[in-house]
Amino acid sequence: MGIPADEASRRRTFAIISHPDAGKTTLTEKFLLYGGALSSEAGSVKARSGRRSATSDWMALEQQRGISITSTVLQFPYRDCVINLLDTPGHRDFSEDTYRVLAAADAAVMVLDAAKGIEPQTLKLFEVCRQRELPLLTFINKWDRPGYDALELLDLIEKQIDLVVTPVTWPVGIAGDFRGVVDRRDGLFTRFTRVARGATEAPEEIVDPERAAADEGAAWEAAQNEIQLLDEVGADVDRELFLGAQSTPAFFGSALTNFGVRKLLDAVVDLVPSPGARPDASGNHRELDAPFSGFVFKVQANMDPSHRDRIAFMRVCSGKFERGMVITHGTTGKPFATKYAHQVFGSERETIDEAFPGDIVGLVNATEVRVGDTLWLDTPVQFPAIPSFAPEYFSVARVRDTGRFKQFRRGIAQLDEEGVVQVLRDADQGDQAPVLAAVGPMQFDVAVYRLENEFGAPVELSPTNYKVARRTDQPSADALRGMRGVRVLQRADGTLMALFESQYWLERLEGDNPDLVLERLVAEGSIG
Ligand code: G4P
Repeated sequence: MGIPADEASRRRTFAIISHPDAGKTTLTEKFLLYGGALSSEAGSVKARSGRRSATSDWMALEQQRGISITSTVLQFPYRDCVINLLDTPGHRDFSEDTYRVLAAADAAVMVLDAAKGIEPQTLKLFEVCRQRELPLLTFINKWDRPGYDALELLDLIEKQIDLVVTPVTWPVGIAGDFRGVVDRRDGLFTRFTRVARGATEAPEEIVDPERAAADEGAAWEAAQNEIQLLDEVGADVDRELFLGAQSTPAFFGSALTNFGVRKLLDAVVDLVPSPGARPDASGNHRELDAPFSGFVFKVQANMDPSHRDRIAFMRVCSGKFERGMVITHGTTGKPFATKYAHQVFGSERETIDEAFPGDIVGLVNATEVRVGDTLWLDTPVQFPAIPSFAPEYFSVARVRDTGRFKQFRRGIAQLDEEGVVQVLRDADQGDQAPVLAAVGPMQFDVAVYRLENEFGAPVELSPTNYKVARRTDQPSADALRGMRGVRVLQRADGTLMALFESQYWLERLEGDNPDLVLERLVAEGSIG
Protein backbone atom coordinates (compact mmCIF):
# COMPACT_ATOMS: atom_id res chain seq x y z
CA MET A 1 0.00 0.00 0.00
CA GLY A 2 1.02 3.53 -0.52
CA ILE A 3 3.00 3.00 -3.73
CA PRO A 4 1.66 5.58 -6.19
CA ALA A 5 1.34 3.24 -9.18
CA ASP A 6 -0.50 0.65 -7.06
CA GLU A 7 -2.80 3.25 -5.58
CA ALA A 8 -3.40 4.74 -9.02
CA SER A 9 -4.51 1.37 -10.31
CA ARG A 10 -7.36 1.49 -7.76
CA ARG A 11 -8.51 4.94 -8.82
CA ARG A 12 -11.32 5.69 -11.27
CA THR A 13 -11.75 9.38 -11.98
CA PHE A 14 -14.69 10.34 -14.15
CA ALA A 15 -17.40 12.93 -14.76
CA ILE A 16 -21.06 12.68 -15.66
CA ILE A 17 -22.34 14.65 -18.63
CA SER A 18 -25.99 15.18 -19.41
CA HIS A 19 -28.66 17.62 -20.43
CA PRO A 20 -30.58 19.12 -17.47
CA ASP A 21 -33.28 16.79 -16.17
CA ALA A 22 -31.87 13.66 -17.74
CA GLY A 23 -31.10 12.45 -14.22
CA LYS A 24 -27.48 13.37 -13.44
CA THR A 25 -28.23 14.46 -9.88
CA THR A 26 -30.30 11.36 -9.23
CA LEU A 27 -27.64 9.07 -10.64
CA THR A 28 -24.92 10.81 -8.63
CA GLU A 29 -26.91 10.23 -5.47
CA LYS A 30 -27.40 6.59 -6.34
CA PHE A 31 -23.69 6.16 -6.96
CA LEU A 32 -23.08 7.57 -3.50
CA LEU A 33 -25.67 5.22 -2.06
CA TYR A 34 -24.01 2.21 -3.68
CA GLY A 35 -20.61 3.49 -2.63
CA GLY A 36 -21.83 3.69 0.97
CA ALA A 37 -21.10 7.42 1.04
CA LEU A 38 -24.65 8.25 1.97
CA SER A 39 -26.73 7.07 4.81
CA SER A 40 -29.29 4.51 3.73
CA GLU A 41 -31.63 7.28 2.64
CA ALA A 42 -30.50 8.36 -0.80
CA GLY A 43 -33.50 10.62 -0.78
CA SER A 44 -32.04 12.59 2.07
CA VAL A 45 -29.64 14.49 -0.17
CA LYS A 46 -32.47 15.43 -2.39
CA ALA A 47 -34.91 17.56 -0.49
CA ARG A 48 -38.39 16.17 -0.32
CA SER A 49 -39.83 19.53 -1.32
CA GLY A 50 -38.72 18.70 -4.79
CA ARG A 51 -35.82 21.09 -4.74
CA ARG A 52 -32.51 19.43 -4.77
CA SER A 53 -30.15 20.29 -2.01
CA ALA A 54 -27.73 17.81 -3.45
CA THR A 55 -24.45 17.51 -1.72
CA SER A 56 -22.73 19.37 -4.48
CA ASP A 57 -24.79 22.55 -4.39
CA TRP A 58 -23.32 25.40 -2.43
CA MET A 59 -24.42 28.86 -3.23
CA ALA A 60 -27.64 30.72 -2.52
CA LEU A 61 -27.95 31.47 -6.22
CA GLU A 62 -27.85 27.81 -6.98
CA GLN A 63 -30.52 27.13 -4.46
CA GLN A 64 -32.72 29.87 -5.82
CA ARG A 65 -32.46 28.44 -9.24
CA GLY A 66 -32.16 24.87 -8.17
CA ILE A 67 -29.11 24.26 -10.24
CA SER A 68 -25.62 23.30 -9.54
CA ILE A 69 -23.42 26.06 -10.88
CA THR A 70 -20.08 24.93 -9.64
CA SER A 71 -18.52 21.58 -9.82
CA THR A 72 -17.09 19.73 -6.96
CA VAL A 73 -15.66 16.36 -6.30
CA LEU A 74 -17.19 13.34 -4.68
CA GLN A 75 -14.91 10.54 -3.56
CA PHE A 76 -16.19 7.19 -2.40
CA PRO A 77 -15.04 3.59 -2.22
CA TYR A 78 -16.60 0.95 -4.40
CA ARG A 79 -15.47 -2.69 -4.52
CA ASP A 80 -11.72 -2.46 -4.11
CA CYS A 81 -11.52 0.92 -5.85
CA VAL A 82 -11.57 4.56 -4.94
CA ILE A 83 -13.98 6.44 -7.17
CA ASN A 84 -13.49 10.15 -7.86
CA LEU A 85 -16.65 11.57 -9.37
CA LEU A 86 -16.19 15.05 -10.76
CA ASP A 87 -19.46 16.90 -10.78
CA THR A 88 -20.05 19.04 -13.84
CA PRO A 89 -22.55 21.87 -13.63
CA GLY A 90 -25.93 20.77 -14.86
CA HIS A 91 -27.55 24.00 -15.88
CA ARG A 92 -29.09 24.73 -19.23
CA ASP A 93 -26.28 27.00 -20.06
CA PHE A 94 -22.69 25.94 -19.93
CA SER A 95 -19.44 27.51 -19.02
CA GLU A 96 -15.76 26.95 -19.28
CA ASP A 97 -15.86 25.40 -15.87
CA THR A 98 -17.36 22.24 -17.29
CA TYR A 99 -14.66 21.92 -19.89
CA ARG A 100 -11.97 22.32 -17.31
CA VAL A 101 -13.48 19.62 -15.17
CA LEU A 102 -13.40 17.27 -18.15
CA ALA A 103 -9.69 18.01 -18.46
CA ALA A 104 -9.24 16.37 -15.07
CA ALA A 105 -11.34 13.26 -15.84
CA ASP A 106 -10.23 9.94 -17.31
CA ALA A 107 -13.67 9.08 -18.66
CA ALA A 108 -17.25 10.31 -18.71
CA VAL A 109 -20.66 8.79 -18.19
CA MET A 110 -23.26 10.23 -20.54
CA VAL A 111 -26.77 10.12 -19.08
CA LEU A 112 -29.63 10.20 -21.55
CA ASP A 113 -33.35 10.43 -20.99
CA ALA A 114 -34.96 7.46 -22.77
CA ALA A 115 -37.65 9.73 -24.16
CA LYS A 116 -35.29 12.42 -25.40
CA GLY A 117 -32.08 10.84 -26.59
CA ILE A 118 -29.20 13.22 -27.10
CA GLU A 119 -30.20 16.77 -26.22
CA PRO A 120 -28.26 19.94 -27.09
CA GLN A 121 -26.29 20.28 -23.86
CA THR A 122 -25.27 16.63 -23.97
CA LEU A 123 -24.10 17.08 -27.52
CA LYS A 124 -21.92 20.05 -26.62
CA LEU A 125 -20.39 18.23 -23.70
CA PHE A 126 -19.93 15.17 -25.82
CA GLU A 127 -17.95 17.25 -28.34
CA VAL A 128 -15.56 18.20 -25.56
CA CYS A 129 -15.18 14.55 -24.58
CA ARG A 130 -14.44 13.73 -28.19
CA GLN A 131 -11.80 16.43 -28.41
CA ARG A 132 -10.15 15.10 -25.32
CA GLU A 133 -10.63 11.52 -26.54
CA LEU A 134 -12.30 10.66 -23.27
CA PRO A 135 -13.74 7.16 -23.10
CA LEU A 136 -17.51 7.34 -22.69
CA LEU A 137 -20.05 5.09 -20.99
CA THR A 138 -23.72 5.67 -21.80
CA PHE A 139 -26.57 5.29 -19.35
CA ILE A 140 -30.04 5.33 -20.88
CA ASN A 141 -32.13 6.51 -17.99
CA LYS A 142 -35.85 6.62 -17.17
CA TRP A 143 -36.69 3.34 -18.89
CA ASP A 144 -39.54 3.10 -16.37
CA ARG A 145 -41.29 5.80 -18.40
CA PRO A 146 -42.52 5.82 -21.98
CA GLY A 147 -39.79 6.69 -24.46
CA TYR A 148 -38.10 5.63 -27.67
CA ASP A 149 -37.93 2.13 -29.00
CA ALA A 150 -34.54 0.78 -27.86
CA LEU A 151 -33.13 0.01 -31.32
CA GLU A 152 -34.39 3.29 -32.71
CA LEU A 153 -32.69 5.11 -29.84
CA LEU A 154 -29.36 3.40 -30.54
CA ASP A 155 -29.66 4.40 -34.13
CA LEU A 156 -30.35 8.01 -33.21
CA ILE A 157 -27.40 8.16 -30.84
CA GLU A 158 -25.02 6.67 -33.38
CA LYS A 159 -26.14 9.15 -36.01
CA GLN A 160 -25.81 12.14 -33.71
CA ILE A 161 -22.44 11.43 -32.18
CA ASP A 162 -20.92 9.13 -34.73
CA LEU A 163 -19.86 6.61 -32.13
CA VAL A 164 -20.66 2.90 -32.13
CA VAL A 165 -23.05 2.08 -29.28
CA THR A 166 -22.36 -1.32 -27.76
CA PRO A 167 -25.11 -2.26 -25.29
CA VAL A 168 -23.93 -4.23 -22.29
CA THR A 169 -27.45 -4.60 -20.98
CA TRP A 170 -30.60 -4.73 -23.05
CA PRO A 171 -34.09 -3.90 -21.80
CA VAL A 172 -36.89 -6.41 -21.63
CA GLY A 173 -40.18 -4.55 -22.09
CA ILE A 174 -40.58 -1.27 -23.92
CA ALA A 175 -39.86 2.04 -22.20
CA GLY A 176 -42.67 2.52 -19.71
CA ASP A 177 -43.19 -1.24 -19.32
CA PHE A 178 -39.81 -2.07 -17.87
CA ARG A 179 -39.47 -5.76 -16.93
CA GLY A 180 -35.71 -5.81 -16.46
CA VAL A 181 -32.48 -6.13 -18.41
CA VAL A 182 -30.59 -8.95 -20.05
CA ASP A 183 -26.88 -8.84 -19.52
CA ARG A 184 -25.46 -9.60 -22.96
CA ARG A 185 -22.27 -10.96 -21.41
CA ASP A 186 -23.96 -13.93 -19.74
CA GLY A 187 -27.54 -13.88 -21.04
CA LEU A 188 -28.96 -13.65 -17.52
CA PHE A 189 -32.05 -11.58 -16.79
CA THR A 190 -32.18 -9.09 -13.91
CA ARG A 191 -35.75 -8.42 -12.98
CA PHE A 192 -36.83 -4.83 -12.45
CA THR A 193 -38.40 -4.18 -9.10
CA ARG A 194 -39.76 -0.81 -8.15
CA VAL A 195 -38.48 0.58 -4.89
CA ALA A 196 -40.06 3.64 -3.38
CA ARG A 197 -37.95 6.55 -4.66
CA GLY A 198 -34.97 4.27 -4.53
CA ALA A 199 -34.07 4.97 -0.92
CA THR A 200 -32.37 1.64 -0.60
CA GLU A 201 -30.36 -0.45 -3.01
CA ALA A 202 -32.55 -2.11 -5.60
CA PRO A 203 -33.22 -5.79 -4.98
CA GLU A 204 -31.56 -7.71 -7.77
CA GLU A 205 -33.36 -10.83 -8.73
CA ILE A 206 -31.28 -12.71 -11.27
CA VAL A 207 -33.27 -15.11 -13.37
CA ASP A 208 -32.05 -17.70 -15.85
CA PRO A 209 -33.17 -17.41 -19.48
CA GLU A 210 -35.65 -20.33 -19.35
CA ARG A 211 -37.56 -18.90 -16.46
CA ALA A 212 -37.36 -15.37 -17.84
CA ALA A 213 -38.87 -16.64 -21.11
CA ALA A 214 -41.72 -18.29 -19.22
CA ASP A 215 -42.34 -15.28 -16.99
CA GLU A 216 -42.00 -12.46 -19.51
CA GLY A 217 -43.39 -14.09 -22.64
CA ALA A 218 -43.60 -11.77 -25.65
CA ALA A 219 -41.43 -9.06 -24.07
CA TRP A 220 -38.64 -11.60 -23.56
CA GLU A 221 -38.96 -12.87 -27.09
CA ALA A 222 -38.82 -9.35 -28.54
CA ALA A 223 -35.70 -8.60 -26.50
CA GLN A 224 -34.05 -11.83 -27.68
CA ASN A 225 -34.74 -10.93 -31.31
CA GLU A 226 -33.23 -7.51 -30.80
CA ILE A 227 -30.19 -8.97 -29.07
CA GLN A 228 -29.72 -11.31 -31.99
CA LEU A 229 -29.68 -8.30 -34.30
CA LEU A 230 -27.06 -6.65 -32.10
CA ASP A 231 -24.98 -9.84 -32.16
CA GLU A 232 -25.21 -9.95 -35.93
CA VAL A 233 -23.96 -6.40 -36.37
CA GLY A 234 -21.21 -7.09 -33.85
CA ALA A 235 -22.30 -4.41 -31.38
CA ASP A 236 -20.25 -5.97 -28.61
CA VAL A 237 -18.19 -4.15 -26.04
CA ASP A 238 -14.63 -3.77 -27.22
CA ARG A 239 -12.39 -2.29 -24.54
CA GLU A 240 -9.83 -1.02 -27.04
CA LEU A 241 -12.45 0.87 -29.02
CA PHE A 242 -13.94 2.20 -25.78
CA LEU A 243 -10.54 3.40 -24.60
CA GLY A 244 -9.95 4.97 -27.99
CA ALA A 245 -13.27 6.86 -27.66
CA GLN A 246 -14.65 5.11 -30.73
CA SER A 247 -17.42 3.13 -29.11
CA THR A 248 -19.54 3.56 -26.03
CA PRO A 249 -20.77 0.70 -23.87
CA ALA A 250 -24.42 1.35 -23.03
CA PHE A 251 -26.63 0.44 -20.08
CA PHE A 252 -30.38 0.72 -19.68
CA GLY A 253 -31.88 1.61 -16.34
CA SER A 254 -33.84 3.87 -14.10
CA ALA A 255 -31.77 5.93 -11.70
CA LEU A 256 -34.80 6.97 -9.71
CA THR A 257 -35.52 3.37 -8.75
CA ASN A 258 -31.81 2.45 -8.63
CA PHE A 259 -32.25 -0.05 -11.40
CA GLY A 260 -29.12 -0.56 -13.46
CA VAL A 261 -26.99 1.58 -11.17
CA ARG A 262 -24.87 -1.28 -9.88
CA LYS A 263 -24.08 -2.60 -13.34
CA LEU A 264 -23.05 0.88 -14.41
CA LEU A 265 -20.85 1.38 -11.37
CA ASP A 266 -19.30 -2.03 -11.97
CA ALA A 267 -18.53 -0.93 -15.51
CA VAL A 268 -16.83 2.19 -14.15
CA VAL A 269 -14.56 -0.10 -12.15
CA ASP A 270 -14.08 -2.70 -14.90
CA LEU A 271 -13.81 -0.51 -17.99
CA VAL A 272 -12.74 3.04 -17.07
CA PRO A 273 -8.97 3.32 -17.26
CA SER A 274 -7.10 3.96 -14.06
CA PRO A 275 -4.86 7.06 -14.15
CA GLY A 276 -1.83 6.56 -16.35
CA ALA A 277 1.46 8.36 -16.89
CA ARG A 278 0.41 11.83 -17.99
CA PRO A 279 1.96 13.54 -21.01
CA ASP A 280 3.57 16.87 -20.19
CA ALA A 281 3.63 19.95 -22.42
CA SER A 282 6.49 18.56 -24.47
CA GLY A 283 4.91 15.16 -24.91
CA ASN A 284 7.02 13.23 -22.38
CA HIS A 285 5.17 11.18 -19.83
CA ARG A 286 5.35 11.78 -16.12
CA GLU A 287 5.43 8.27 -14.71
CA LEU A 288 3.04 7.47 -11.88
CA ASP A 289 5.91 6.63 -9.56
CA ALA A 290 7.80 9.83 -10.36
CA PRO A 291 7.88 12.44 -7.60
CA PHE A 292 4.62 14.23 -6.91
CA SER A 293 3.05 16.38 -9.62
CA GLY A 294 -0.41 17.77 -10.24
CA PHE A 295 -2.26 20.42 -12.18
CA VAL A 296 -4.96 22.86 -11.22
CA PHE A 297 -8.16 22.62 -13.22
CA LYS A 298 -10.41 24.87 -11.24
CA VAL A 299 -10.11 27.75 -8.81
CA GLN A 300 -12.96 28.98 -6.77
CA ALA A 301 -13.35 31.63 -4.13
CA ASN A 302 -15.85 31.85 -1.32
CA MET A 303 -17.26 28.40 -1.84
CA ASP A 304 -18.72 28.50 1.55
CA PRO A 305 -19.74 31.82 3.11
CA SER A 306 -18.64 30.56 6.50
CA HIS A 307 -15.10 30.04 5.20
CA ARG A 308 -14.63 32.92 2.76
CA ASP A 309 -11.59 31.58 1.10
CA ARG A 310 -10.26 30.42 -2.19
CA ILE A 311 -9.71 26.84 -3.22
CA ALA A 312 -7.58 25.60 -6.07
CA PHE A 313 -8.61 22.12 -7.19
CA MET A 314 -5.64 20.06 -8.22
CA ARG A 315 -5.59 16.68 -9.85
CA VAL A 316 -2.70 14.55 -8.69
CA CYS A 317 -0.81 13.15 -11.70
CA SER A 318 2.18 11.38 -10.20
CA GLY A 319 3.67 10.40 -6.89
CA LYS A 320 2.17 10.63 -3.47
CA PHE A 321 0.76 13.88 -2.19
CA GLU A 322 1.28 14.39 1.51
CA ARG A 323 -0.20 17.31 3.34
CA GLY A 324 2.48 19.58 4.66
CA MET A 325 5.01 18.84 1.98
CA VAL A 326 6.55 21.81 0.24
CA ILE A 327 6.12 21.65 -3.50
CA THR A 328 7.06 24.02 -6.29
CA HIS A 329 4.55 26.18 -8.10
CA GLY A 330 5.64 25.80 -11.72
CA THR A 331 4.56 29.23 -12.95
CA THR A 332 6.34 31.32 -10.33
CA GLY A 333 9.00 28.82 -9.31
CA LYS A 334 8.10 29.61 -5.70
CA PRO A 335 7.82 27.00 -2.97
CA PHE A 336 4.29 26.21 -1.96
CA ALA A 337 3.47 24.82 1.47
CA THR A 338 0.54 22.43 1.42
CA LYS A 339 -0.46 22.84 5.02
CA TYR A 340 -4.06 23.52 4.09
CA ALA A 341 -4.95 20.69 1.80
CA HIS A 342 -8.48 19.45 1.85
CA GLN A 343 -10.67 16.88 0.40
CA VAL A 344 -13.80 18.65 -0.73
CA PHE A 345 -16.97 16.65 -0.73
CA GLY A 346 -19.82 18.81 -1.89
CA SER A 347 -19.78 21.78 0.44
CA GLU A 348 -18.09 19.81 3.16
CA ARG A 349 -14.39 19.65 3.46
CA GLU A 350 -11.99 17.76 5.55
CA THR A 351 -8.28 17.82 5.87
CA ILE A 352 -6.63 15.36 3.56
CA ASP A 353 -3.36 13.75 4.57
CA GLU A 354 -2.39 11.94 1.44
CA ALA A 355 -3.57 11.55 -2.13
CA PHE A 356 -2.55 9.57 -5.19
CA PRO A 357 -2.77 9.93 -8.97
CA GLY A 358 -6.37 10.50 -10.00
CA ASP A 359 -7.35 12.08 -6.69
CA ILE A 360 -8.38 15.69 -6.37
CA VAL A 361 -6.93 17.88 -3.66
CA GLY A 362 -8.37 21.25 -2.68
CA LEU A 363 -5.60 23.72 -1.84
CA VAL A 364 -6.96 26.42 0.41
CA ASN A 365 -5.87 30.02 0.00
CA ALA A 366 -3.43 29.25 -2.76
CA THR A 367 -3.62 32.85 -3.90
CA GLU A 368 -1.06 32.71 -6.68
CA VAL A 369 -2.22 29.47 -8.20
CA ARG A 370 -4.21 29.72 -11.43
CA VAL A 371 -6.15 27.31 -13.60
CA GLY A 372 -3.73 25.29 -15.70
CA ASP A 373 -0.79 25.67 -13.32
CA THR A 374 1.43 22.71 -12.57
CA LEU A 375 2.83 21.94 -9.12
CA TRP A 376 5.66 19.48 -8.61
CA LEU A 377 8.16 17.99 -6.21
CA ASP A 378 11.90 17.39 -6.92
CA THR A 379 11.81 17.07 -10.72
CA PRO A 380 10.15 19.89 -12.65
CA VAL A 381 7.32 19.19 -15.05
CA GLN A 382 4.87 21.35 -16.94
CA PHE A 383 1.52 19.89 -17.97
CA PRO A 384 -0.24 21.21 -21.06
CA ALA A 385 -2.35 24.34 -20.65
CA ILE A 386 -6.09 23.89 -20.31
CA PRO A 387 -7.68 25.45 -23.38
CA SER A 388 -9.81 28.49 -22.86
CA PHE A 389 -12.85 28.68 -25.04
CA ALA A 390 -14.07 31.19 -27.51
CA PRO A 391 -16.49 33.57 -25.81
CA GLU A 392 -19.64 34.41 -27.72
CA TYR A 393 -21.33 36.80 -25.31
CA PHE A 394 -19.92 40.20 -24.49
CA SER A 395 -21.33 42.72 -22.00
CA VAL A 396 -19.98 45.92 -20.52
CA ALA A 397 -19.88 46.00 -16.72
CA ARG A 398 -20.15 49.22 -14.70
CA VAL A 399 -20.32 49.63 -10.96
CA ARG A 400 -23.62 51.18 -9.87
CA ASP A 401 -22.18 53.20 -7.03
CA THR A 402 -18.85 54.79 -7.90
CA GLY A 403 -18.02 54.78 -4.19
CA ARG A 404 -17.68 51.00 -4.53
CA PHE A 405 -15.18 51.14 -7.36
CA LYS A 406 -12.38 49.58 -5.34
CA GLN A 407 -14.55 46.58 -4.48
CA PHE A 408 -15.67 46.34 -8.09
CA ARG A 409 -12.09 46.25 -9.30
CA ARG A 410 -11.09 43.61 -6.82
CA GLY A 411 -14.14 41.50 -7.66
CA ILE A 412 -13.60 41.73 -11.39
CA ALA A 413 -9.98 40.67 -11.00
CA GLN A 414 -11.00 37.72 -8.87
CA LEU A 415 -13.69 36.53 -11.28
CA ASP A 416 -11.23 36.85 -14.15
CA GLU A 417 -8.68 34.78 -12.31
CA GLU A 418 -11.20 32.08 -11.54
CA GLY A 419 -12.40 32.11 -15.11
CA VAL A 420 -16.00 32.83 -14.09
CA VAL A 421 -15.93 35.26 -17.01
CA GLN A 422 -13.09 36.54 -19.16
CA VAL A 423 -12.37 40.21 -18.57
CA LEU A 424 -11.39 42.36 -21.54
CA ARG A 425 -10.22 45.91 -21.06
CA ASP A 426 -9.95 48.91 -23.28
CA ALA A 427 -6.51 50.49 -22.96
CA ASP A 428 -8.14 53.93 -22.61
CA GLN A 429 -10.91 53.02 -20.19
CA GLY A 430 -9.04 50.63 -17.95
CA ASP A 431 -11.14 49.18 -15.20
CA GLN A 432 -13.99 51.68 -15.48
CA ALA A 433 -16.03 49.71 -17.98
CA PRO A 434 -14.50 46.34 -18.72
CA VAL A 435 -16.14 44.00 -21.19
CA LEU A 436 -17.08 40.67 -19.69
CA ALA A 437 -16.88 37.81 -22.15
CA ALA A 438 -18.53 34.45 -21.64
CA VAL A 439 -19.09 31.17 -23.37
CA GLY A 440 -22.66 31.03 -22.05
CA PRO A 441 -24.81 33.85 -20.61
CA MET A 442 -25.27 32.09 -17.27
CA GLN A 443 -21.69 33.06 -16.51
CA PHE A 444 -22.90 36.69 -16.38
CA ASP A 445 -25.56 35.87 -13.80
CA VAL A 446 -22.96 34.28 -11.62
CA ALA A 447 -20.59 37.24 -12.06
CA VAL A 448 -23.26 39.83 -11.23
CA TYR A 449 -24.43 37.84 -8.24
CA ARG A 450 -20.97 37.40 -6.86
CA LEU A 451 -19.90 41.00 -7.44
CA GLU A 452 -22.87 42.16 -5.43
CA ASN A 453 -22.94 39.54 -2.71
CA GLU A 454 -19.30 38.77 -2.14
CA PHE A 455 -17.60 41.98 -3.08
CA GLY A 456 -20.33 44.49 -2.21
CA ALA A 457 -20.21 45.99 -5.69
CA PRO A 458 -23.59 45.92 -7.45
CA VAL A 459 -23.08 46.28 -11.19
CA GLU A 460 -25.00 47.08 -14.29
CA LEU A 461 -24.38 44.99 -17.37
CA SER A 462 -25.11 46.29 -20.84
CA PRO A 463 -24.99 43.85 -23.71
CA THR A 464 -22.87 44.74 -26.73
CA ASN A 465 -23.34 43.86 -30.38
CA TYR A 466 -20.17 41.78 -30.55
CA LYS A 467 -20.52 38.10 -31.36
CA VAL A 468 -17.14 36.75 -32.39
CA ALA A 469 -13.65 37.10 -30.93
CA ARG A 470 -10.23 36.56 -32.47
CA ARG A 471 -6.78 36.75 -31.00
CA THR A 472 -4.61 39.30 -32.72
CA ASP A 473 -1.19 40.96 -32.50
CA GLN A 474 -0.09 44.57 -32.04
CA PRO A 475 0.31 45.61 -35.71
CA SER A 476 -3.04 44.06 -36.63
CA ALA A 477 -4.63 45.62 -33.56
CA ASP A 478 -3.46 49.05 -34.69
CA ALA A 479 -4.95 48.46 -38.13
CA LEU A 480 -8.19 47.05 -36.73
CA ARG A 481 -8.74 50.00 -34.43
CA GLY A 482 -9.44 52.17 -37.45
CA MET A 483 -12.08 49.83 -38.84
CA ARG A 484 -15.82 49.94 -38.37
CA GLY A 485 -17.64 47.20 -36.46
CA VAL A 486 -14.51 46.03 -34.61
CA ARG A 487 -13.24 46.62 -31.12
CA VAL A 488 -9.82 45.68 -29.85
CA LEU A 489 -9.47 44.86 -26.18
CA GLN A 490 -6.92 43.27 -23.94
CA ARG A 491 -6.96 40.41 -21.48
CA ALA A 492 -5.20 40.66 -18.15
CA ASP A 493 -2.37 38.50 -19.53
CA GLY A 494 -1.81 41.01 -22.34
CA THR A 495 -3.46 38.99 -25.10
CA LEU A 496 -5.10 41.27 -27.64
CA MET A 497 -8.61 40.33 -28.65
CA ALA A 498 -10.53 41.71 -31.60
CA LEU A 499 -14.32 41.57 -31.32
CA PHE A 500 -16.57 41.56 -34.38
CA GLU A 501 -20.26 42.16 -34.76
CA SER A 502 -20.80 39.08 -36.84
CA GLN A 503 -19.05 36.18 -38.43
CA TYR A 504 -19.92 37.73 -41.78
CA TRP A 505 -18.24 41.01 -40.91
CA LEU A 506 -15.16 39.22 -39.65
CA GLU A 507 -14.87 37.22 -42.85
CA ARG A 508 -15.34 40.32 -44.95
CA LEU A 509 -12.60 42.23 -43.15
CA GLU A 510 -10.36 39.19 -43.36
CA GLY A 511 -11.02 38.93 -47.08
CA ASP A 512 -10.24 42.62 -47.61
CA ASN A 513 -7.17 42.58 -45.38
CA PRO A 514 -5.45 39.22 -45.80
CA ASP A 515 -2.43 40.36 -43.78
CA LEU A 516 -4.35 40.73 -40.55
CA VAL A 517 -3.44 38.25 -37.83
CA LEU A 518 -6.73 36.87 -36.56
CA GLU A 519 -6.37 33.57 -34.75
CA ARG A 520 -9.26 31.37 -33.89
CA LEU A 521 -9.75 30.50 -30.28
CA VAL A 522 -9.96 26.90 -29.19
CA ALA A 523 -13.02 24.85 -29.90
CA GLU A 524 -14.91 27.58 -31.62
CA GLY A 525 -17.92 26.49 -33.58
CA SER A 526 -17.74 22.89 -32.56
CA ILE A 527 -18.96 23.56 -29.10
CA GLY A 528 -19.83 27.23 -29.10
P1 G4P B 1 -30.44 16.51 -13.63
O1 G4P B 1 -29.54 16.50 -12.44
O2 G4P B 1 -29.84 15.83 -14.81
O3 G4P B 1 -30.99 17.86 -13.97
O4 G4P B 1 -31.73 15.61 -13.31
P2 G4P B 1 -32.33 15.10 -11.94
O5 G4P B 1 -31.53 13.98 -11.40
O6 G4P B 1 -32.61 16.24 -11.05
O7 G4P B 1 -33.68 14.47 -12.49
C1 G4P B 1 -34.64 15.26 -13.15
C2 G4P B 1 -36.03 14.70 -12.88
O8 G4P B 1 -36.12 13.39 -13.45
C3 G4P B 1 -36.36 14.56 -11.41
O9 G4P B 1 -37.75 14.76 -11.27
C4 G4P B 1 -36.04 13.11 -11.14
O10 G4P B 1 -36.74 12.59 -10.04
C5 G4P B 1 -36.48 12.47 -12.44
N1 G4P B 1 -35.79 11.20 -12.71
C6 G4P B 1 -34.46 10.92 -12.64
N2 G4P B 1 -34.22 9.65 -12.96
C7 G4P B 1 -35.42 9.09 -13.24
C8 G4P B 1 -35.82 7.78 -13.63
O11 G4P B 1 -35.03 6.86 -13.79
N3 G4P B 1 -37.15 7.60 -13.83
C9 G4P B 1 -38.07 8.59 -13.67
N4 G4P B 1 -39.34 8.31 -13.89
N5 G4P B 1 -37.71 9.83 -13.30
C10 G4P B 1 -36.41 10.08 -13.08
P3 G4P B 1 -38.37 16.10 -10.73
O12 G4P B 1 -39.83 15.93 -10.76
O13 G4P B 1 -37.78 17.27 -11.47
O14 G4P B 1 -37.81 16.23 -9.29
P4 G4P B 1 -38.28 15.44 -7.99
O15 G4P B 1 -39.55 16.10 -7.60
O16 G4P B 1 -38.46 14.01 -8.37
O17 G4P B 1 -37.18 15.67 -7.05
